[in-house]
Amino acid sequence: MNHHPSTLAFFDSGMGGLTVLQEAMQWLPQEHYVYFADSENAPYGTKSSAAIIQLVEEAVCFLVQHHALKALIIACNTATSVAIKNLRAQYNFPIIGMEPALKPALALAPDKAVLVCATEKTLQAPRLQALATRLEAKDRILRLSLQELVSFAEQGEWDSPAVHQYLQEQFREVDWGTIQAVVLGCTHFPYYRKVLQHYVPSHLPILDGHAGTIRQLQARITPAPKEQTPSFVYYRSKKLLPTADLTPFLKQMEAVS
Ligand code: DGL
Repeated sequence: MNHHPSTLAFFDSGMGGLTVLQEAMQWLPQEHYVYFADSENAPYGTKSSAAIIQLVEEAVCFLVQHHALKALIIACNTATSVAIKNLRAQYNFPIIGMEPALKPALALAPDKAVLVCATEKTLQAPRLQALATRLEAKDRILRLSLQELVSFAEQGEWDSPAVHQYLQEQFREVDWGTIQAVVLGCTHFPYYRKVLQHYVPSHLPILDGHAGTIRQLQARITPAPKEQTPSFVYYRSKKLLPTADLTPFLKQMEAVS
């Protein structure tokens, strides 16, 4: 192992974090990247906090044993919600998490609500409530679980009748007249940007927190020198796999952007 801390590790419960990694690669193209998808244990959003903390800590321990980390990006809102505090207490490198893009969404209009779509765990976790309180917007946050999209995404199911039926049911009760923006608080959801447009009125923006996370990352690291040859390694729950396995997911991101 090369002990110079040069690797940026991205972690997610599965394929969602790839949507963040892909954006990071555009801003920081020379880096050594590792992507760890804990797909064998996905979804996280229906698990207990203790179970999520244990899974994340095991994965990070594995990453630290195999790579010299310059920074760790918890590219998962659910894992950030429950596990990031413990991780930061254990490691010295920068650990960057995901935060739902509430601030820009609330800034769009002073009187309406923001619909946060996320996993069950993220919606219940005190972290979201604390963010809403900090932004003085406790009464302007509406919550909608789209938990099943995580499992659909893991199976590479993007635009099937089952996906449409699920979304139709989930959005059925939403009173759009009270809402000014939709926030995607789960890194698996950007894969569904186009499908979601069938259910979200076209005048409402759909925001995610990816740019905020990458801005934070840029602020916390020294970028790799321009002459560095970039690299990319992929683990699926501790198994080293070819990065070509990620191609269908990268293609889906291209198709929706
Ligand atoms: N990508 C994860 C997130 O951002 C999905 C969580 C899950 O596995 O349920 O929350």
